[in-house]
Amino acid sequence: MKQEFLWGAASSAYQIEGAYLEDGKGLSIWDVFANTPGNTKDNTNGNIACDFYHRLEEDVALMKECHLKCYRFSLSWTRILPNGRKEVNKQGIAYYQSLCKLLKEAGIEPIVTIYHWDLPQNLEDEYGGWLSEKIVDDFVHYAQVCFEALQDYVNYWIVINEPNIFTEHGYLRAVHPPKMKDMNAYLKSYHHTVIATAATVHLFKLYNYPGKIGTSLAYMPGKSMPQYDSAKNLYQITQLDWFFDPLFLGEYPKEAMEYYGQHLKDIDLYKHQQLMKSAAQEIDFIGVNYYQSTWVISAESGFELISNPSLPKTSYGWTIDPDGLMQTLTALHEKYHKPIMITENGYGGKDILINHMVHDDERIDYLREHIEMMEKAYKTGIDIIGYCCWSFTDLLSWLNGYEKRYGLVYIDFNDSALPRVRKDSFFWYKQLIIQGEKQ
Ligand code: BG6
Repeated sequence: MKQEFLWGAASSAYQIEGAYLEDGKGLSIWDVFANTPGNTKDNTNGNIACDFYHRLEEDVALMKECHLKCYRFSLSWTRILPNGRKEVNKQGIAYYQSLCKLLKEAGIEPIVTIYHWDLPQNLEDEYGGWLSEKIVDDFVHYAQVCFEALQDYVNYWIVINEPNIFTEHGYLRAVHPPKMKDMNAYLKSYHHTVIATAATVHLFKLYNYPGKIGTSLAYMPGKSMPQYDSAKNLYQITQLDWFFDPLFLGEYPKEAMEYYGQHLKDIDLYKHQQLMKSAAQEIDFIGVNYYQSTWVISAESGFELISNPSLPKTSYGWTIDPDGLMQTLTALHEKYHKPIMITENGYGGKDILINHMVHDDERIDYLREHIEMMEKAYKTGIDIIGYCCWSFTDLLSWLNGYEKRYGLVYIDFNDSALPRVRKDSFFWYKQLIIQGEKQ
C-alpha cells in the first residue's frame, strides 16, 4: 500500500461518548429511544457508553500507541446544535476541536462522519425527521456549522453513515427509531438522505472548504447458484444500486423504479436531479462498510436472502467472506470510478477477559484475511485510500447491547471505572501498521 495509506479504526458518537446530558447537549432520537424500556437489548443505552467524552487523552494515547494513521468518529448533532438548528453549543464545538487537536498532535488524521444516526429529537417531533424534505435545510446548516468549526483540522469528511441501513431499520423493520414498518416511508426517508448528502457535498465545494468529502454506505454483495442469477440481479439493482447510484451517478436505476412501483407514491425522484447529478460528479470518494456477503435464491417476491451454506460464520451468525470484499471493491470501482475508503470492517463476537488479556484469534484471522483481500484488490488497480477497522474500543451495538464486541481494545463494562485492556488484535494490528511504515 502507499506510504500515506490511511490505516485506522472507526466509531460513532452515540456508541462511545456517553455524557448524554452534559455541557448543553440536547436529546437525540437514540437518547429517547434507548431510554424507553423494551426498545433495546437488555434496555442498554448510550448514556455512559465508553465514557469517551471524558477520556479523550487516554483513548487517543492508545490510538497513538497502536500507530493508527487515522481515526474515524462521528459528531453528535445535538452536542453541536442542541435543538437541531440555530443556537450553537460552544462547549460541543470545543469538545470536537480538542479531540481533533489531540489526534493531530498524535499524528492521526481525523476522519469525521457528520451524521451517524443520532437525529435531534426536536426535529423528529417537529416534522417527522427524515420523512420530511424540511430535514434537508436543517442538515445542510448543521453540516456547515461543522465545516466552519473543524476546517482547520479535518481533511476527510463523510456526510452520512449507512443511510441504507438506518432507514431500513427505522422505517421498514421497526428496530430503530421511529419504529415504523412502511415501505413508502423507507423509500422516502432514504431519498431525503440523498438530497441532504448532495446539497452538503455541493455546499462543501461551493465554499471551497479544504479536504475531501465522501459518504459511507453498507455493501453486502450477493452470491448465488447460476440458476438464481436473475434473483441475484434483482437483488443487486434494488438493494445495492438503488442506494449507491443516486449518490455516485446522480440517478436511481430505472428498473428498480418499476420494482418499487406504487411504493414510490408522493416521492418525486426527479425534483432535485440537477443537484444530484452535479454532487455525484463533485463527491470525492466512496466510503464503504463491508462485513459480509449474502446468499441469494429466488422467491415469489423475486429474491430471498439466506445464509450461505458453505461459508463460516461468526458467533453472531454473520458470514465470513473475504472474497465478498473483493467483489464489493471491484463492483464499486467498475461502476463509479471513484477512490474508495473502507470505512468499516470488523468482527463482532463475545470476547472473554482472562488475567487482563483477551485472546481474540477469530478477530485477528478475520482482519488478516480481509486486509489481504484488500491488498490484492489494490494491486489490481483499485484506488483504495484507507481502511478503518470497526472498532477501536468495544462499544455499544445498536441491536446487541454491550455483549457484542468489535474493538481492538476491550472495555470492562461491568466495572464502573470502564478499564481499557489491549486485546491480542491490538498488538497484531499495530505490527501490521508498523510493517507498512517500513515499506
Ligand atoms: C454498521 C454501523 O452497520 O455496523 C455501526 O455503522 C455498527 O454503527 C456496525 O455498530 C456493527 O453492527 P452491529 O449491529 O453488529 O453492532
